[in-house]
This record gives sequence, C-alpha cells and structure tokens, in this order.
Amino acid sequence: AKDEVEGFDLDNAPRGPIVLGFSQAGAESGWRVANTESIKKSAERNRITLNFKNADGKPEQQIADVHAFIDAKVNVISFAPVVESGWGEVLRRARDARIPVVLTDRLIDEKDTSLWTSSIGAEFASEGNLAALYLANAFSGTAGPVNVVEILGTTGSTPTKQRAEGFAATASKTSLLKVIDEETGNWSRDGGEDAMRKLLKRNKKIDAVFAQNDDMGLGAVTALEAANRKPGSDPKIVTVDATRDGLEALLAGKLSYVVECSPEIGEQLMTVVVDLFHGGRVKKRIESEKAVFDAESAAEALPDRKY
Ligand code: AHR
Repeated sequence: AKDEVEGFDLDNAPRGPIVLGFSQAGAESGWRVANTESIKKSAERNRITLNFKNADGKPEQQIADVHAFIDAKVNVISFAPVVESGWGEVLRRARDARIPVVLTDRLIDEKDTSLWTSSIGAEFASEGNLAALYLANAFSGTAGPVNVVEILGTTGSTPTKQRAEGFAATASKTSLLKVIDEETGNWSRDGGEDAMRKLLKRNKKIDAVFAQNDDMGLGAVTALEAANRKPGSDPKIVTVDATRDGLEALLAGKLSYVVECSPEIGEQLMTVVVDLFHGGRVKKRIESEKAVFDAESAAEALPDRKY
C-alpha cells in the first residue's frame, strides 16, 4: 500500500538494543510532561535505549540536538518539533547517514516527504472543529453574534495553526460564532493568564474563550476570576488536551468543555521503531486517540486519568 513503507534498512539493523535519539519540544505544559513520561516508559518497556534531549522550546537547540544524534550514530531519530520550519538541512543529513526519522506529535513544513519515515500524532484541525461545534451548540437559540477570543499556542507550531484553522472553518459555517481577537499564550499557564488579561483589556464583550490547550485555559481562568468574571459560564471556555488538571477544572465548572489530545503516544512510537528494524511494515501516518469531555464524562474519566 502507498501509505506504508517497508521496514527501513534490515542490513543496517543494530546487533544490540536499538538506540533512539528523541528530541522533546520542551516542558511547557502538563501535556508535554505526560508525553515525555510516556516516551521514557515505553522505551524502557520495549528495551530500546533512549538518548533523550529537551529543546526547552528553542527551535535552534532542537536542530542542534538532531545534529548531535546523527554525530552519535543513533539507529533512529524522533522529535516533537517546537516549530514546523527549519528542518530541511538536518533531515537531509540524517537521510544521507541512513538514519530513519519518525515525527511525533507535530509536523514539519518540508515538501519532501521522504525526509521522514513516519509521523504519529493527533489531527489538530478536527480538535478545532470540535471546539467550535461545542460552542455553536451551547449558544444555539441565542441571537448572536457570540464573541469568541482565542488563546493560541506557540507561533509556527502545527497545533497552533491547525487548531485555529479547524475552529475557524466550523465557526464560519455557523452564523453565530465570531472570533473577535486572539493572543498567544505559548502553551503555558502563565502565558494563558497574561494573554487573557490583554484580551480582557481590549474587548468589552467576550462570550467565549477557545484556549488551544488546558494550561492556557487554566491561566485564563485565573485572569477572569481576578476580573470578577465566572469562567466556565461567563465566559464559556473550551480547551484541548484533557489532562487531569483540565478535567478537574471542568468538573468544578471553571472550564466548559475539553477536547482530548492524547500525550500517550510512546507505545505507538516504540512499535514503529521496532518494526523498522524487524521487517514490519510501517505506516506513513499514525493517528493518536481522542475523545471529548463535558463535566459528566470528566467525572467518569478522572479516577483513571494518569496525567
Ligand atoms: O502539540 C501538542 C500540544 O503541545 C498540546 O496540546 C499542548 O499542551 C502542548 O504543549
């Protein structure tokens, strides 16, 4: 099938344990911390030697990390890109060195798709679709327009772009939702709080907030409470991730709705890594799991929520 590639390079298969060089984007959110945990645990479970580096949100650092993996002659490289741009040169170097690359979580903006063997992650646009759909339903029957402000993740990262696009696409189909302003919150709680403060200053009537992740939504809750608003109802707040903190806030009525983006993609990554060197077929694109939560389903999910 076209969407699958053969196990990479069996002649090149390592004799000992497979060495995976993994560059993580940072530790900016609860999601990211859970993602790191998932990758570390799954590597151990699958007896894969993990060479782990954290780029701390710095694109140049992350590219340097990948160069370092090539120098160290790891068997396979994976990374969760801080931003989409800047990857061509280092990935061509990896290809020349016959080191397969697996993108996790996010994507890159290179046209030459042979630069990576596989990518694993969420369909971010559909998360944005679901967030807008919730708000359209929640406000249906009202006269509108519903003024929505958006708190964005890091500029230039795949989820920032695609969640915004997905939200806008669904919003434009309703004659109700109107995105009146946006501000970046850089995926963090402090960033979300700061962004919400600015949005409150600039906009008199805010009916709903779409925060592109839980942490920024929780930061927005702090800013709204400080401004004597009742986040969760005034304004409604929709977020993406479904971390434990997000679901608890949903249960407490401070968030209105949460779209899941699972950080637990470690097992999917290790399956690809093992298949690459043991003759399995590897899919070019592997989608992670997702669900949606309201207060009721949050209460059901919380006892088993690990992150
Ligand atoms: O790329 C996934 C996003 O990055 C998560 O939604 C966010 O919390 C994280 O920092």
